[in-house]
Amino acid sequence: MKKFISVHDVTDINALVEKALMYKANPFKDTALGAGKRIGLLFLNPSLRTRLSTQVAASNLGMEAVVFNVDKEGWALEFEEGAIMSGNTVEHIKDAAPVLGSYFDILCIRTFPSLKNRDDDYSELYISQFIKYCGVPVISLESATLHPLQSLTDIVTITESLKLKADGKKPKIVLTWAPHVKPLPQCVANSFAQWINAWGEADFVITHPEDYDLCDDFSKGATITHNQEEALKDADFVYVKNWSTYNDYGKIYENDPAWMLTLDKLKATNNAKVMHCLPVRRNVELSDEVLDSDHSIVTQQAGNRVWAAQAVISELLNAQTGTAK
Ligand code: CP
Repeated sequence: MKKFISVHDVTDINALVEKALMYKANPFKDTALGAGKRIGLLFLNPSLRTRLSTQVAASNLGMEAVVFNVDKEGWALEFEEGAIMSGNTVEHIKDAAPVLGSYFDILCIRTFPSLKNRDDDYSELYISQFIKYCGVPVISLESATLHPLQSLTDIVTITESLKLKADGKKPKIVLTWAPHVKPLPQCVANSFAQWINAWGEADFVITHPEDYDLCDDFSKGATITHNQEEALKDADFVYVKNWSTYNDYGKIYENDPAWMLTLDKLKATNNAKVMHCLPVRRNVELSDEVLDSDHSIVTQQAGNRVWAAQAVISELLNAQTGTAK
């Protein structure tokens, strides 16, 4: 693996999942792998889990991790080629990225979408320019359209639960839209759909209100319904997430509380496990009664962020040293 931006960078999802679970069982197995190496974590947007889990993962592999909150502490970056920089941007990515590449062996970057211009966001200009100019392997810590470390974690968590069940049945996984008070990116939902479709080991259903279609580059392959009740029937896993509109880009059309998942709705499921990437707005996106019940595996899921990140960093380090493991 040379970079980690989407599922397309992964040749074998299950092998990567097993590697993550191997690190969960034995976190310090490869402390020598990253010794003397440095990883830079660049944030243009806030984070709790992604920042800390990736730092812990790097440390478990013997690496030094340096976090830089570019949005608060760095110069305002310009990403457009040929820009006349007479506005607010101070430094071009063409100049900043190679400097960062000279300081670090691996670079990670988080860049959210503007939610103003769909073509701009879906062109993934920021992360593409960063990859083009930094000269070292890049890990996405969430980009304008995708959140691959989260999605890998999600499949690690689902696999872990399936191993406990051990009934060998193909699980039914439902991604359900949830209400929210502000327009959120489609990244987590896009990415989850992309990974579950690529994984191919589940009956996958996406349910959302009309007008909340995801980009079909990611959702194609799933069964899509506007009937949440029908979608939840016999579900083994329910992944709850809000996203803003894709077609009339970046809007909230409705915030119907009837879409919030409740214990009553879960009665129709196969005693489903409930997942959410966090942070979650309690009693808006997900009810207290669900989050605080045995259905919820959100803490386990967030904990697994460490092992997913460790597996990915390990793959990139092995690729640098030419060691296939
Ligand atoms: N799930 C997730 O990416 O959390 P943070 O935004 O806190 O990193």
